[in-house]
Amino acid sequence: MVATLSFAGQDIPVGVFDSGVGGLSVLAHIRHVLPQQSLIYAADSLHAPYGSKSQAFIVDRSIQLSDFLISRGAKALVVACNTATAAAIGELRRRYAIPIIGMEPAVKPAAAATRSGVVGVLATSGTLQSAQFAALLESYGRQVRVETQACIGLVECIERGELQDAATRQLLQRYIHPLLDAGADTLVLGCTHYPFVRPLIEDIAGPDVVIIDTGAAVARQLKYRLREANLLVDSLAVESGATEFWSNADTASAQSVISLLWGASVDVMRLPD
Ligand code: DGL
Repeated sequence: MVATLSFAGQDIPVGVFDSGVGGLSVLAHIRHVLPQQSLIYAADSLHAPYGSKSQAFIVDRSIQLSDFLISRGAKALVVACNTATAAAIGELRRRYAIPIIGMEPAVKPAAAATRSGVVGVLATSGTLQSAQFAALLESYGRQVRVETQACIGLVECIERGELQDAATRQLLQRYIHPLLDAGADTLVLGCTHYPFVRPLIEDIAGPDVVIIDTGAAVARQLKYRLREANLLVDSLAVESGATEFWSNADTASAQSVISLLWGASVDVMRLPD
C-alpha cells in the first residue's frame, strides 16, 4: 500500500505560482530540498505586480492559477507569493482539498535575530496593508520595533530582469536607507521577487545587517506536508524530477527572464490568460 502511494506520487507534480517570476526564488529552494519531485511553475507576469491590486483581483487570479495547476495534475500547491498568500490563501484552502503552502514575511525569526531591536520589512503594499501582516505584527512584532517599507516599482525591475541596473540600485537605496537610519540591523525580504536583488541589498545594507528570506523554510514546510499526506516521492524511484515553466508574458521575454533567474536555459510554455 505504501509502495503504491509513493509510486503514485512520483509523476504527480507540485504546482507553484506567483504574480510573476519572483516565486522562482522559492522554486529553487524546493528543487534543492525535493530533487526528485516534479514541479510546475506558473508565472502570472501579465498581471504583475499584484502588490497594488485589489484583494478581489488577487483572489480571482489565484483561483485561476490554482485551477490551471490542478488541471495539470498538481497534488499540492505552493503560493510562492507573500501578496497572494495574504489576499487569497483562506479562499484557496476553502476550495481545494490538497495541501496548500503559503508564505509570509519572516517577522518572527527577524525579531529573534535583531540586536538593535529594530527590524526592517521590505514588501509590497498589498502585503503590508493586509490583515495577515497585522496579525503577524501582533504576534511577533511586539517586543521589537518593526519598520516597514513598501517597495513600489521594484517587482517591475525584477520582472524585466534588471537585477544590477543603476535604476534598480537607486530604488533600493531609496527604500533601504530610511530603514537603516531608523536603526534596523535585520531586513526581512517580504516578497519573493526580492531575493533576486539580494546582492544589491547586501551591498547597500553593509555586512553588519542580517537579511532574512523565507524560501528555504517554505521548501522544508512543503516537504513536511507532503510526507504527512503520504505524497512524498519515493527516493529510490526517480533520479531527478522534471521542472515545467509556464508564463503568460510574451514568450520571448518570459524565456529570457526565467532562464536568467533560474540560472539555466529553459523552455517556457504559454500560460492561458
Ligand atoms: N512576489 C510577490 C510577493 O511575494 C508579489 C509581488 C507583486 O506582484 O507585487 O509578494
